[in-house]
Amino acid sequence: MNVLRRPLRSCNGTPPALARSVTRGHATSRYPSPAAQKWSHPPSSTPIADDAVVTLASKPLHALSLADLVKHGRPPLSQQALFSSANFTLSLLPIRLAHRIQALRNLPFIVVSNPNISKIYNNYLHSLSTLLPYNHKTISNLEDEIRFTDVLADLVDTHSHTIPTLARGFLECRKYINPQDVTQFLDEHLRARIGTRLIAEQHIALHLSSQPHQDPAVNIPALAPSYVGVIDTCLQPASIINSCGNFVSEICELKYGVRPTWIIDGEPGTTLAYVPVHLEYIITELLKNAFRATVESGRSHEPVVITIAAEPESPRGGRPSAGEGTDLNKTGGIDDTGSIKPIDESAPGVTIRIRDRGGGISPDVLPNIWSYSFTTFSDDELPGQQNGSMDALNALTGAGEGSSIAGLGYGLPLSRAYAEYFGGGISVQSLYGWGSDVYLRLKGLGRLQK
Ligand SMILES: Nc1ncnc2c1ncn2[C@@H]1O[C@H](COP(=O)(O)OP(=O)(O)OP(=O)(O)O)[C@@H](O)[C@H]1O
Ligand SMILES: [Mg+2]
Repeated sequence: MNVLRRPLRSCNGTPPALARSVTRGHATSRYPSPAAQKWSHPPSSTPIADDAVVTLASKPLHALSLADLVKHGRPPLSQQALFSSANFTLSLLPIRLAHRIQALRNLPFIVVSNPNISKIYNNYLHSLSTLLPYNHKTISNLEDEIRFTDVLADLVDTHSHTIPTLARGFLECRKYINPQDVTQFLDEHLRARIGTRLIAEQHIALHLSSQPHQDPAVNIPALAPSYVGVIDTCLQPASIINSCGNFVSEICELKYGVRPTWIIDGEPGTTLAYVPVHLEYIITELLKNAFRATVESGRSHEPVVITIAAEPESPRGGRPSAGEGTDLNKTGGIDDTGSIKPIDESAPGVTIRIRDRGGGISPDVLPNIWSYSFTTFSDDELPGQQNGSMDALNALTGAGEGSSIAGLGYGLPLSRAYAEYFGGGISVQSLYGWGSDVYLRLKGLGRLQK
């Protein structure tokens, strides 16, 4: 989940006239020649009937709830429950992929023709083409279920490098699309991607721990009794914070030669039901920011203080406020459409405050921190190119996954997308000249049935 992070900076201005005149809609309506059809969609190597995409994309997206993901029961799933999980997954994914394909087609033609964006577009077409053979089928035998799960594994794998590829693509297209449009597209696209991966990974995890596919030598429920698919019903945020802290401090040691430290206080024993890989992503990003600020402000001796607060049970079923009166769901004004519904709306959540002494965020930087690809990071090895696009392109070429302390400018907006997916949120309070407080609220998902 940790994507490569290197200097990147948003592009400026409105798209030039060229970009506007070659958008797909304009090209086909103004020049309705026989040759126009071949320009009607971005280049693709995957043969897939247009009708299929259009029909699927016209269907509404299923509003997913956590109950949907756990309704097939606790592992090990019986054969019947496994088939019903597979068929449920199958009912969701083709529509979701078709919606994404349509959204990519709605980008200016010159943008989706960029090799990197076009790669992502083709990945979606490829994944949809692998699912279409199952479209009007019910999975009712193990052979089909195994093949279908292989298709899901391929889907997850195919889309694993989406973020750096899209980042590079939009950077290369910065002349043809303005930063607000990029942020809007990415926000929708990456939020949809969180849900699609979750649905696919949930079935893969249930498959691996189901009765028909369980290795008799490995008693999975005994090894991980708290897991239902990819959801850990007893996740302890403190242990994730410690493992991410070790990882990020190693990155700091490589980059700066110092290892910042952290302290956990509050209620470290708190547990909740959550998806561990989502929390790992968020905590890693927030610690990278806090550690970087701490080191770069020359205060690496000051530990980052992480306070874990378990919300009390709410007698009236309402959500208690968190983060000093800040409504964490409303930061940045993005609504939570597409987020997953919890089992119990009133389930108490957990708020995690990450407090650093890294000098805070200056007022001219603060309004931009939620924009995809905004960063103040600049690699020392590339002087004179601070925030420059070439700097970012150079860095994207050479960077290894997750090995940089900062630079892509995706950390905060994507972490917020992950937190909001389950109804939580992230809020940043900067005490400029002193440090920052970042409040991460994880919404309680409710008790999963035994
Ligand atoms: N705790 C913090 N202290 C000071 N500045 C911060 C802090 N957190 C974020 N920022 C500022 O917000 C900017 C955007 O943060 P974000 O995490 O989105 O991107 P990044 O860290 O630059 O790159 P990436 O996270 O993609 O590697 C940062 O470049 C930094 O200037
Ligand atoms: Mg960051």
